[in-house]
Amino acid sequence: MQKPHLQIIIGSTRPGRAGAAVGSWFYDIAVKHDACTVEMLDLATIDLPLLDEPNHPRLGRYVYDHTKRWSEMISAGDAFVFVVPEYNRGYNAATKNALDYLCREWRRKPVGFVGYGAVAAGSRSIQGLIPVVAALGMIPAARSVNIPLINRMVTDGEFVSNPRLDESAAEMLDELSSWATDLGATHRGADR
Ligand SMILES: Cc1cc2nc3c(=O)[nH]c(=O)nc-3n(C[C@H](O)[C@H](O)[C@H](O)COP(=O)(O)O)c2cc1C
Repeated sequence: MQKPHLQIIIGSTRPGRAGAAVGSWFYDIAVKHDACTVEMLDLATIDLPLLDEPNHPRLGRYVYDHTKRWSEMISAGDAFVFVVPEYNRGYNAATKNALDYLCREWRRKPVGFVGYGAVAAGSRSIQGLIPVVAALGMIPAARSVNIPLINRMVTDGEFVSNPRLDESAAEMLDELSSWATDLGATHRGADR
């Protein structure tokens, strides 16, 4: 049986961001976990402008090439993990913008979060995103990965993990891959 395709989306676009290091760590864990094929998508290089499509995304009538490319990328995903920072007690704007661009491409697909920040460990950005992904018809994983004190956990551009975080990443991947396998037939065209 074909493995589900997991896309890890780095939400931070800031120069000097911790997000790239956190994303690379999670990518390696997901490859080792081996339940899904894994791809990294980086919002910094995908470089979507602030939503500029004239039509509601549910219509899928995209005008701009950047939206058509983004739609094609996300259509290929069976499950997603957003690597998301906490900014001002919420999620960052680039992550919300990337979600708002599309509709059908996200629907009935499981999604997990790796949140990071200071003492709240990205929990407020994750809690803020759950109603957003629910509105899009996605299935949020019950488990998430929460990384506190991120500024102490990145050294020379590398995320320095620990066994507890590695374990919570693997648990979330168990949940996402199981949902993605169960839901695979639905979103591969049978019931759009
Ligand atoms: C604009 C801004 C606002 C922030 N607000 C919060 C916050 O409310 N809570 C928190 O825990 N950390 C906050 N931080 C700290 C970030 O979570 C931390 O700097 C993290 O590295 C940001 O992710 P990035 O480096 O991938 O952009 C903030 C950082 C920035 C740049």
